Formats: sequence, C-alpha cells, structure tokens
Amino acid sequence: MPDNKHKVLFVCIHNSARSQMAEAFLRLHGGTAFEAESAGLEPGKLNPNVVAVMKEIGIDLTGKPTQAVNDLFHQGRQYDAVITVCDKEAAERCPIFPGRVKRIAWSFKDPSGFKGTQEEVLEHTRKVRDEIEVTIKDFIRQHLKDMVRQKYSEIALQDKATNQSSCCGSGCCSTEVYNIMSDDYSNLEGYDPNADLGLGCGLPTQFAKIKKGDVVVDLGSGAGNDCFIARAETGETGKVIGIDFTPAMITKARANAEQLGYNNVEFRQGDIEDMPLTSNKADVVVSNCVLNLVPNKHKVFSEISRILKPGGHFSISDIVLKGTLPDKWREVAELYAGCVSGAIQKNEYLSIIEEAGFVNIQIQKEKKIILPDDILGQYLTPEEVTAYSADDSRIESITVYGEKPAKDERNCCSPDSKCC
Ligand SMILES: C[S@@+](CC[C@H](N)C(=O)[O-])C[C@H]1O[C@@H](n2cnc3c(N)ncnc32)[C@H](O)[C@@H]1O
Repeated sequence: MPDNKHKVLFVCIHNSARSQMAEAFLRLHGGTAFEAESAGLEPGKLNPNVVAVMKEIGIDLTGKPTQAVNDLFHQGRQYDAVITVCDKEAAERCPIFPGRVKRIAWSFKDPSGFKGTQEEVLEHTRKVRDEIEVTIKDFIRQHLKDMVRQKYSEIALQDKATNQSSCCGSGCCSTEVYNIMSDDYSNLEGYDPNADLGLGCGLPTQFAKIKKGDVVVDLGSGAGNDCFIARAETGETGKVIGIDFTPAMITKARANAEQLGYNNVEFRQGDIEDMPLTSNKADVVVSNCVLNLVPNKHKVFSEISRILKPGGHFSISDIVLKGTLPDKWREVAELYAGCVSGAIQKNEYLSIIEEAGFVNIQIQKEKKIILPDDILGQYLTPEEVTAYSADDSRIESITVYGEKPAKDERNCCSPDSKCC
C-alpha cells in the first residue's frame, strides 16, 4: 500500500509548549492519515504547565523530548507541511525544507509568558491548548478538502477516453474506485454524455419530484450530469444551479451548458458547507455522491435547510456504511476521495438530517456497493480481501428524501398558541 501519510512538522522557538501541543493534537485527531512531529529553533525543556493541562484531557507528554529543527533539516527530512506556531521570528528563521513543502504560519500566545497565580497561568495555558486543538481540527478538515479538490480536478482535466478507460462501465477492469458506483443515465431525458464522468452513486432526480418552473440546486455538480437531467424536468421556465468547489469541474460544466445552449443552468464555484446562495431560494435540492466527501455533514444539511424554500425538499444519493471498514483505509486518499472512507454510518446520516429539522424523511432506494477484488487488492492483503468479501454489505448507496417544514415549526411556542 502506498505511503499516503501527510507529513507535518510544527516549529516554534523552544519546542517546549505550542509546537508540542499541536503535534499531540494532530496525532490524536488526524489518525493514521498524518505523521506529526515538532521541533524548535533553540530547543528547551518541555513546559510543565503544558504537561499538566494536556494531562487533564488525557494526553500524557511527560518526558517527551524536544528536538532541533536544524538537526531535522541536516538529516534531509522531508515534509508536506511545515507550520510555525509562535511568531514571525520562528517563521523567518525556520529553514526551507526540500521538496514541495507547504509553509503555514500560525500564531498562539506563549504559555511561558503568562503571569499571575499558578491557577491563573494554568487557565491561560488551557485557553491556548483549546485554541490549538480547534485550529488542528480545522487544518485536518481543510486538508481533506484540498485532497478531494485535487483529485476531482485531475478527473475533470482528464480527457473522456482516459476517464472511461479507468472505468468499469466501459467493460474493462476497475482499477479506480471513482467510477464503480454510478448508475446508467444514458436513457434519461436531458442526458449529456459530456457531463457524465461516471462519478455518481444513484439517480437523485428520479425521486426529486421536480416540477416545471422549479428552482433546483445540485450540490457537488461535477460536470453537470444531474443539472442537465433536472433542466429537462424544470424546463425553460425553471432554473438549475450547480455548486462545486473544484474550479476545473465548474469550467467543464459551464462549457457543457454553453454547448447545449442553456441559459437557465448556472454553475457557481463554492463550498457546500457554506453555499453561495441566498436563503429560501430553492424548491428542490439534489446531490449525487458528494456529502460523504464533506467533513462537516451537519453544516451541509443546515445549509440545505437554509437555501430551501419553506415546504421545499431534497433528494440526495450518497454513500453510507452499515458496518466497519478496515482501519487502514482511513489513511488512503484514493478511498476518501473515491467516496468510501469519508462515509458515515447510515443511522448517523439519518439522525443528522433529522437534527437539521427535516420531516417526512424517506429512503427511496438502497443499493449494495461491492468493491471489486482488483480494487480491494490494492489496499488489503489477499487474506484481508477474503475476510472483507465474506461480509460485503458494509457499503451502501442510498437515495434519501426529506422536506423542510412549510412553516418553521421549531420556532413555535406551543401547538395552540397561534404564534407561528
Ligand atoms: C463524486 S463527484 C460527483 C459529481 C457529480 N455529482 C456527478 O454525479 O457526476 C463529487 C463532486 O463533489 C465536489 N465536492 C466535493 N466536496 C465538495 C464541497 N465541500 N463543496 C462543493 N463541492 C464539493 C467535487 O469537486 C466533485 O465534483
């Protein structure tokens, strides 16, 4: 299995507090996908207050050595990202490591500079600790998004022949995970072969109840496959808006719309965790095999609720899990970007929809996803492939429907108060 770990070095002046906390949090939250280290320009002793506040949350740094950045540099160590966590001085003095290293500068208060009683100093240190943890979690989410964007950019820029030759739909072997879940669109009205990159995992428009004149929003629209099907249903008087955060996908989708001569199909570049749309805009939201790729699924469903008109609805095809996946898959970028390892348990998925306030939630279709042996063989030993295949019902594609209440019932005081 290729080493896909993202190697990160945290740097500070003394490697005694902030860089150590950042390293510890990346190890904790980043799992096996990351390799974290920390070092200092003038390494000193680990700050005992930091050891104490980290212990309070179950992370034991006792006896952890500090190390010198220059030693790592002279050993020829390579990193994907070098992040300074104290001030400008660290950023300026940190050596330039070889390779294509992303340099990031964060700035947190220095715990060794806090004054006051011991309890006050500890309290300030806790604040820095918590701030670093939040920043690390954001960094992990951002990393996943960058990786997904890069993969889909490559797919968008590939010519159609290359795309199809890596796809089981064309009858050849399935060496890529991206194209193995898609349904056949070719008989649907509005189908545009140029927009069909084989990246879906269902047919969300089939259950979307799109009416003439509807405003339809497609989340993670890719090259526009579902948008053009939706356009056939909403007609000239409706509007279709596709949102995708990969610039190359947006370019491809716009070129397809232009070639088809549609002026009521629009593509907007943006993150569906923070949609570039005003509230209460859409009659229908559709999405095909995208939400599994998004780290904060709560945020996406709350955004769907925001952009839907009261009484509007969604139909979403996505990948969910019914059992556990092999642990080591979490570190495989291809399996995350390929819609497998970012998926969550089906029950959790449905709870998130409910928590976002949707009603009349229904699973319209379920489909078992069987990963072919040649794909499994890339990430598992032959024995593990046999064990995995013995229970191949762990990954499922579902098409789920839900409605935004016609009135915001959550704001009602009581059923008979007539206040809403
Ligand atoms: C598996 S492809 C599906 C594309 C399209 N729905 C289809 O069926 O052809 C996932 C798409 O979602 C987009 N995407 C992933 N995460 C996103 C996010 N957070 N915001 C917007 N688009 C995202 C990717 O750029 C990619 O085009």
